[in-house]
Amino acid sequence: MSATPHVPVPQDLDQAVPMTLPRLAEKKRLGEPIVMVTAYDYPSAQVAEEARVDLVLVGDSGAMTVLGYPSTVPVSVEEMLMLASAVRRGLKTPLLVGDLPFGSYEASDELAVATAQRFIKEAGCDAVKLERGGTSAERARAIVASGIPVMGHVGLTPQTATALGGYRAQGRTGERALAVADDALALQQAGCFSIVFEAIPASVASLLIERIEVPVIGIGAGPATDGQVLVFHDLLGIYDGHAPRFAKRFADVKAEMVAGVSQYADEVRRGVFPGPEHTYSIAEEELEAFRSEWHMRVS
Ligand code: KIV
Repeated sequence: MSATPHVPVPQDLDQAVPMTLPRLAEKKRLGEPIVMVTAYDYPSAQVAEEARVDLVLVGDSGAMTVLGYPSTVPVSVEEMLMLASAVRRGLKTPLLVGDLPFGSYEASDELAVATAQRFIKEAGCDAVKLERGGTSAERARAIVASGIPVMGHVGLTPQTATALGGYRAQGRTGERALAVADDALALQQAGCFSIVFEAIPASVASLLIERIEVPVIGIGAGPATDGQVLVFHDLLGIYDGHAPRFAKRFADVKAEMVAGVSQYADEVRRGVFPGPEHTYSIAEEELEAFRSEWHMRVS
């Protein structure tokens, strides 16, 4: 287990100032690293809040980590809205970004705006995220024009992983790196307030970042980006499916959970739990009153 118990957790939550788009841009300008994490429910949102991250993404990775789908593709808008609403209830300070799921924005600007509006209106998100450049940059432009902030996502875009040759790093040839660059610049042109770079060589990210004026959040894109994002279940070790090389584990929570539930099961089976301290009492005379009434009724 690689937990880091000595890292102080900020306590003065009441003093926390909500993250805004100007504050985010200011962080980039000042070179202050931006921290983003995914969350999918009320408790994970509370953890993100207390850990004082800057941005929380209700990622469609939740399709796999909490809903058990084999990929991000099957998750529906309704499922994402339910996850995002729960996160909203647990969050005050970080900016909340909702991931538009596959099939919910690509077909037309109208569809993209309508879906984005649901994330803002029904789930209380502050912004939405979509994947890829190309037509997605057009959708981003339409959503931004409707007054909703958009985060872009380039490099490895899991919604279209099949077309990219699988879950593998992108931009590893000159031509492919240029394609990632074109996508990122198109999303910036479209008005995205931030862009995620996923699984691209650190040296490519570092060259691109010189031309990107909005905060770039990396995942598997090296240290040059303005911030980092990790999937909650990967970083805490809750999910033990395939983990990409960039998914550093900072804790082994699944092992802790299995140990806790196993101990519970063991104590129930051995008659150790519940103990006297887990039960309620009743005054002796009240018990006696109940006992005689009960006996009369059942005899
Ligand atoms: O869905 C997700 O969790 C994401 C992050 C990996 C950026 O898109």
